[in-house]
Amino acid sequence: MNHLKKISLAVLFSGIISSFAMAGEARGAGATAVPGQVSSKSYLKECGACHLAFQPQLLPKRSWEKIMSTLDKHFGDSATLDEDTRSEILAYLITNSAETSSSKVSKKMLASIGKAQAPLRITETAYFKRKHREVQAGVFKRKSIGSPANCTACHPMAEKGNYDEHKVKIPK
Ligand code: HEC
Ligand code: HEC
Repeated sequence: MNHLKKISLAVLFSGIISSFAMAGEARGAGATAVPGQVSSKSYLKECGACHLAFQPQLLPKRSWEKIMSTLDKHFGDSATLDEDTRSEILAYLITNSAETSSSKVSKKMLASIGKAQAPLRITETAYFKRKHREVQAGVFKRKSIGSPANCTACHPMAEKGNYDEHKVKIPK
C-alpha cells in the first residue's frame, strides 16, 4: 500500500469512529440531560429570587454545604437566611445532590470535579467548561445573557432541568 492510501484510510477510519462516538453522545444526552425539576418551595422562593434555582443535581454535596455556610458572602451579595430555613434548604440540597442522581449530567459533572474540590459554581466545573467550549466568552457578556450562570437565557427549559443541547437558543 502506498503512503497516500495509508493516510486516507486512517482519516476515513478515524472519521467513522468519531461519528460513532458522536451518535452515542447525542443519544445519551437527549435521553438523560434532565437532572429533574426543583420541588422544594423554600428553595425556589429563597434561592430562586436572584437567579435560577439551580437543580441540586448539578453540584456535589460538599459544594452545597460550602455554599450554604457562606451565604453572608455570596458572590458579592448577601443571601443569608434564618437558621430554620437555611437548614431546611441545605437538607433538600443534600438529599438531591449530584451523588444521588442517576442522570448522565450529574455523573459527568461529578467525574469532572476533583475529590478534594468543592466548587462554588457550576460554571467553574470542567464539565460545564467542556460543554460550553464552543460558546465564545463575548457571547456570555451580551446584554441579553450577562453571565454564564444565566442558564435560562440559552436553555429555555432550564427551570424544568432540561439542558438538552438540541433545545439551546442563544439570544442575540
Ligand atoms: C441576593 C441575591 C441572591 C440570592 C438570594 C441567592 N443568590 Fe446565588 N448568586 C447570586 C449572584 C449575584 C451570583 C453570581 C451570578 C453570576 O456570576 O452571574 C450567584 C451565584 C450562585 C451560584 C453559582 C452559579 C454559577 O456560576 O454556577 C450558585 C450555585 C448559587 N448562587 C446558589 C444559591 C443558593 C443555594 C441560594 C439560596 C440559599 C442563592 N444562591 C441565593 C445572588 C443570589
Ligand atoms: C450563552 C448560552 C448558554 C448559557 C448561558 C448556558 N449554556 Fe449550557 N449550553 C449552551 C450550548 C450552546 C450548549 C450545547 C453545546 C454543544 O452543542 O455541545 C450547552 C450545553 C449544555 C449542557 C449539555 C447538554 C447536552 O445535551 O449534552 C448542559 C448540561 C448545560 N449546557 C448546562 C448549563 C447550565 C447548568 C447553565 C447555567 C449554569 C448553562 N448551561 C448556561 C449554551 C449556554
